[in-house]
Amino acid sequence: MSESAKPKDQPFHENYVAEYIQGLERRVRDLEQEKRVIEGQYLKVDREFASLRAEFERLRTPPLVAATVLDVLEDNRVIVRSSAGPHFVVTASNFIKLEDLKPSVRVALNQRTFSIVEILPSKKDPFVLGMEIETVPNVSYKEIGGLEDQIREVKETVELPLLKPALFGKVGIDPPRGVLLYGASGTGKTLVARAVAHETKATFTRVIGSELVQKYIGEGARLVREMFDLAREKAPSIVFIDELDAIGARRLETSTSGDREVHRTLMQLLAEIDGFDPRGEVKIIGATNRPDILDPALLRPGRFDRLIYFPLPNGAARLTIFNIHTKSMNLDKDVDLKTLAKMTERATGADIKAVCTEAGMFAIRDEREQVEQADFEHAVAKVLPPTRMIEASEFTVKPEKMYGY
Ligand SMILES: Nc1ncnc2c1ncn2[C@@H]1O[C@H](COP(=O)(O)OP(=O)(O)O)[C@@H](O)[C@H]1O
Ligand SMILES: [Mg+2]
Repeated sequence: MSESAKPKDQPFHENYVAEYIQGLERRVRDLEQEKRVIEGQYLKVDREFASLRAEFERLRTPPLVAATVLDVLEDNRVIVRSSAGPHFVVTASNFIKLEDLKPSVRVALNQRTFSIVEILPSKKDPFVLGMEIETVPNVSYKEIGGLEDQIREVKETVELPLLKPALFGKVGIDPPRGVLLYGASGTGKTLVARAVAHETKATFTRVIGSELVQKYIGEGARLVREMFDLAREKAPSIVFIDELDAIGARRLETSTSGDREVHRTLMQLLAEIDGFDPRGEVKIIGATNRPDILDPALLRPGRFDRLIYFPLPNGAARLTIFNIHTKSMNLDKDVDLKTLAKMTERATGADIKAVCTEAGMFAIRDEREQVEQADFEHAVAKVLPPTRMIEASEFTVKPEKMYGY
C-alpha cells in the first residue's frame, strides 16, 4: 500500500475533525482579512468625516471685518478704518501685542463688536494687491511697428543701468531715475513697456494708476510703498506705472476727500522715487497720454527726468503695423496694405489694429472667409472718424515746448 493512501485508513471521525478544524482556521483567516479591510475602510471614512467636519466648521465661522489701523489712543483703544470705509474706535483683544498695532497695519475685527482679534500679515504678494508682476508678458519687439528710437531709448535708460551699473560709474554719469513715456493713447506706450518686460532680465512690476485710485480707495499710498518694497526685494527690477495721470494730476485748489487721497498716493510715489539711488537696482517707467495735466513735481530733475515721446506712426511704421496685425488674417490677394497705410495718415497703432479687426468683421458679416481690400476701406471709414484725427494732432507738440525746457 502506498503512503498517500494512509489517511483513508484513519477512522472516519478523526479525519472529519481535522478537516473541520482546518475549515475553521481558514474561516478565521478570511474573517481576519475582512476585518482588516473593514478597519481600513473605517479609517478612511473617519478621516473623511474629520475633514468634512473641519470644512463644516470653516463654513460656519463668521466672517471677520478687515481694517487698517489709523492710530492708537492713549487708553489703548484703536482707531481703525474698516474695509467698507467708515472709521471706528475699537478695543483690541488681550492676545494682541499692543506694540504690533501701528498705523497702516492690517487687522481683522470681530464682526459684532469690531474688536481687533487678529493682526493680518502685510501682504506683499502682487497678485493680491492686483498688481501684475509680469514675469513673461507675451510681447516681443517684433510685434511693435516703428518706435525703434523709443525702444532703444527705453532700453538704454532703463535696462542698461540695471544690468551694467559699472559702465555708468566709469563714464561718470548718473542714469536717469525714471522715464516717462507720453503720447496720444493707442500709440504703443503700454505695448513697449510690456515688450521691455518680456525682453528684460529684470523683474517687472506693473500697476495701473487709475486702478490704484479706483479699486484701492484709501490704500493707494500703502500700495505704492509696498510695490517699491517688493521691487527692491526682487531687484534688479523695473516698476511701470501706467496711466500715471490718474495719480499724478496737478493739484487743484478745491479739493475733495478723493483728491486728498490721490494726493497722498502721489506724495508717497514722490517719496519713493526720491528715496532710491539712481545707480541702484530699481528703475521706474511711467506712461501717460495727458502729460499736460501732470503735476510739475513729477517732472522735476531726479524724478521722471527723461521724457520719451510716442508720436503717431509715420507711413512706414503704419505699414509695418498693418503687416503685424494682418499676419494671421486670411487676406485676398488684391489687398494692398501700402495704400491702406497711406489712407490712415493720422491713425495710431491701436486704430490700425481696430481697422484690421473691423475689416475681418465685414468679411464675416458677408459670409466670406477672405478679407478684401473693400473691407479694409470700409473699416478705415468706420474706425477713423474725423474727430479722432483732430484729437490725435494735439500731440504734435514737442516736449521742450510743453514744459519750457
Ligand atoms: N507701434 C505699434 N505696433 C503694433 N501694434 C501697436 C502699436 N501701437 C499700438 N498698437 C496696438 O494697439 C494696442 C494698444 O496700444 P497701447 O500700447 O495700449 O497704447 P497706449 O498705452 O499708448 O495707449 C496695442 O495692444 C497694439 O495691439
Ligand atoms: Mg496704455
